[in-house]
Amino acid sequence: MTDEKKQIHELTPMDDETNQAFETNEVESLPERDALSHDESSDEEIIASSFNEGDETPEQMRARWAKEKADAHKVSEERKKEGLAERGPALEKLNAAKKKLSMAKANRRKAKTESEIASAEEAVAKADAELLLAEDDMRSVKNKLELSRIKFKKELADNRTILSLRHMRMYFKLGRWPDYVKLKAVHDVSFDIQEGETFGIVGESGCGKSTLGKTILRLTNPTSGQVIYNGQDIASIPDKDFVKLRPELQMIFQDPMSSLNPRMSVKEQIEEPLLIYKRCPDRAEREKRVLELMDTVGLARRYAEMYPHELDGGRRQRIGIARGLSLEPKLIVCDEPVSALDVLIQAQILNLLMDLQREKGLTYMFITHDLSVVKHISNNIAVMYLGQIVEQCETKRLFSHTLHPYTKALLSAIPVPSLQKKRERILLKGELTSPINPQNRCRFAPRCIYASEECFASAPELKDVGNGHKVACHRVAELNDLSET
Ligand SMILES: Nc1ncnc2c1ncn2[C@@H]1O[C@H](COP(=O)(O)OP(=O)(O)OP(=O)(O)O)[C@@H](O)[C@H]1O
Ligand code: SF4
Ligand SMILES: [Mg+2]
Repeated sequence: MTDEKKQIHELTPMDDETNQAFETNEVESLPERDALSHDESSDEEIIASSFNEGDETPEQMRARWAKEKADAHKVSEERKKEGLAERGPALEKLNAAKKKLSMAKANRRKAKTESEIASAEEAVAKADAELLLAEDDMRSVKNKLELSRIKFKKELADNRTILSLRHMRMYFKLGRWPDYVKLKAVHDVSFDIQEGETFGIVGESGCGKSTLGKTILRLTNPTSGQVIYNGQDIASIPDKDFVKLRPELQMIFQDPMSSLNPRMSVKEQIEEPLLIYKRCPDRAEREKRVLELMDTVGLARRYAEMYPHELDGGRRQRIGIARGLSLEPKLIVCDEPVSALDVLIQAQILNLLMDLQREKGLTYMFITHDLSVVKHISNNIAVMYLGQIVEQCETKRLFSHTLHPYTKALLSAIPVPSLQKKRERILLKGELTSPINPQNRCRFAPRCIYASEECFASAPELKDVGNGHKVACHRVAELNDLSET
């Protein structure tokens, strides 16, 4: 076996059938072994399913957003009017109380006799108490207005989908035409990410998480499907238009050491994106910005002249985060950003990411194989198995109402921090099967203890079983009590 074949074998565990197919095919050199970009072969299956009837087009999506924004704005205007209507009398009361107090104080100054002074003191105390009450009323009206403003902002954000994937596929070709085989790393994936949320992607090694992230950011071109970012299909726009959007879409990589340039100092690494995108052309201003970014990610300024190998893993990852933030992005794909770090540093980096999200309104797609990390940080989770999503829902729901046999097995592997409690571990049979030319069946069937004939005969669709909980399993209703979901 050639070295290249060996590398691919190591990368992708294969079942016997595909192993044989692979052995008989010649494999092109690694750099040429690229994606089937907008597949040059006439793959009818891909073209037919890249856009399903009934799917929302980018134009329809933009129209829906405009309507939702207008509706939310109307509601906010009404709330504002209501607030102002309440604010008017409260303000009048406050002004009257202030006036009464200043008059009472003036009378006290003029009072000469003992009885005049006593009654003036009494009037001042009464006016003081009235002012306190009026100030309280005013404060509660102000709080009410502020709350409705925050609620409006949240409603607007909740309604706003920043990224939508529609039937996205990413296939790699291995071997030479016409004998090449297709490695279906990502197969027919669709989901929506809302602005300001953290969308978690979990799954075991090799299931296609990184490929999904890279394809969304157009580091590789998808084979088919749509990647709609802010109403534009960024998978199909020309490069010159995409370059303008690139600063808004950033990635934080798993291994900071391999994603940083060993010959550049910390300052130069953070400065690089600013130079490439011609932000801060003035040198002094750029240096100031780099130092500010270092402060933001909690990297002491004294490290500015140091090189990546002189720092520990946590600090190296902070450089990666500062680089990611330098162009003021909106969506960041975090590909296992803490998996190379120890538990203490993991917690620091996760807290930093969450603080930055709150401050800057960032949206994260958070890729990990660690369910306890994703539980801590995500609002919604999609579980991937061999290039497909098998379960997707809100984070809380995934942990309280797990429905897919694969997710149950993943959750059973999380250690319980208690000597008394023990979780029953579901052990999976065998390895992840090969994503090369997978058969039309449930991809999890060879390892699933509940697999039936139907599971080997056809692939289950990802369906909503209630409350936005989506599952791809033929036997989901048989194996779970869906009334509880
Ligand atoms: N450039 C490439 N050429 C060929 N195959 C590739 C390429 N990149 C990824 N793959 C294959 O695609 C599949 C998914 O890989 P990917 O790196 O996305 O998995 P992952 O879920 O991120 O794994 P990990 O958790 O180990 O990072 C694997 O079978 C991998 O071998
Ligand atoms: S479809 Fe069948 S094989 Fe697949 S997860 Fe469900 S029960 Fe298991
Ligand atoms: Mg990966």
